[in-house]
Amino acid sequence: DKNNFRHYMEKEIFEQPIAIKNTLLNRIKHGKVDLSELVEEHATVLAHVEHIQIVACGTAYHAGLVARYWFESITGIPCDVEIASEFRYRNPATRPNSLFITLSQSGETADTLAALRLAKTIGYISTLAICNVAASTLVREADLVLLTKAGTEVGVASTKAFTTQLTVLLLLVAKFSQIKNKPALVEKQIVEALQILPNRIEQLLSSADKIEKLAKHFADKQHTLFLGRGDEFPIALEGALKLKETSYIHAEAYAAGELKHGPLALVDKNMSVIVIAANNHLLDKLKSNIEEVRARGGQLYIFTSEDSDLADADSKNMHVIALPKIEELTASIYYTVPMQLLAYYVALIKGTDVDRPRNLAKSVTVE
Ligand code: M6R
Repeated sequence: DKNNFRHYMEKEIFEQPIAIKNTLLNRIKHGKVDLSELVEEHATVLAHVEHIQIVACGTAYHAGLVARYWFESITGIPCDVEIASEFRYRNPATRPNSLFITLSQSGETADTLAALRLAKTIGYISTLAICNVAASTLVREADLVLLTKAGTEVGVASTKAFTTQLTVLLLLVAKFSQIKNKPALVEKQIVEALQILPNRIEQLLSSADKIEKLAKHFADKQHTLFLGRGDEFPIALEGALKLKETSYIHAEAYAAGELKHGPLALVDKNMSVIVIAANNHLLDKLKSNIEEVRARGGQLYIFTSEDSDLADADSKNMHVIALPKIEELTASIYYTVPMQLLAYYVALIKGTDVDRPRNLAKSVTVE
């Protein structure tokens, strides 16, 4: 049932505040992350984890890429992320005391399942599935499970499954920061950022019309480039995937620092360039990338924070979408939402089958 929404995708985008709230429910107690739901005999291995290997497909893979920034910078645990269809066929080497984490909305993705089955035979310390479907094969077969509580996701373009995966991953980062005896402040900051996040997204959604107005700029485009740095780089990848899936516009994402290494050659006055510019220590670097695009006449769309010094930079060929402030820890989750909205509104103008894009299935149960 779509309630008053036109499509499931729209409904599911707007459900994100409640989906995140549900995912946090009973997992934060007295200001601390509580994952005691993890089965005892396996949970004890977490203390021995020295490496994390994340494996997933599509949008879930992008969630893994974000988590890598968090795991390494916050907990100091080395983390690798790989696409399941590659991992399963390349005879991967296993690092000592490595935890295998797999992410999936459906829990039925063929390559993801095959990767988990392989992982169970090649010496991982344990396997953990982060999944949205409790009755799925992935959940049944993994040693440890953390469910996302997004509720049923019908739209083929994954939205609330992604942001709730990131929510669970950030809880897990907090858990590892406890285990690795990081300063208590680290966990406190994660908990506070997660608790306020549903409200922050609610506020952002209340001005979705700002983003709807932009959609007309993209409807007749052939190509769009997405740029980001740090944990917003995977959000650029996710934004590009959403636009491809729903609007059939060729979209590519690059880490902004890669511009000069090739993609800048594509930039002229016909190229739209979307920049995710959260207000963090990488903003100055990103500003130079923005200048590089501007100097070639590219059409810039900059998603930034209203307290960043880009907020007032709106000018010819440079549209600035200044969003309410967000905690740095959850910025990647937050900036996902305008990317989803943009893809949705562009698809509406183009009249595509938003919830069931051509050639795609909700769950990819065959290779
Ligand atoms: O069910 P899963 O999370 O394992 O699915 C993985 C991908 O097939 C999925 O995320 C796909 O990329 C979506 N259509 C993206 O919107």
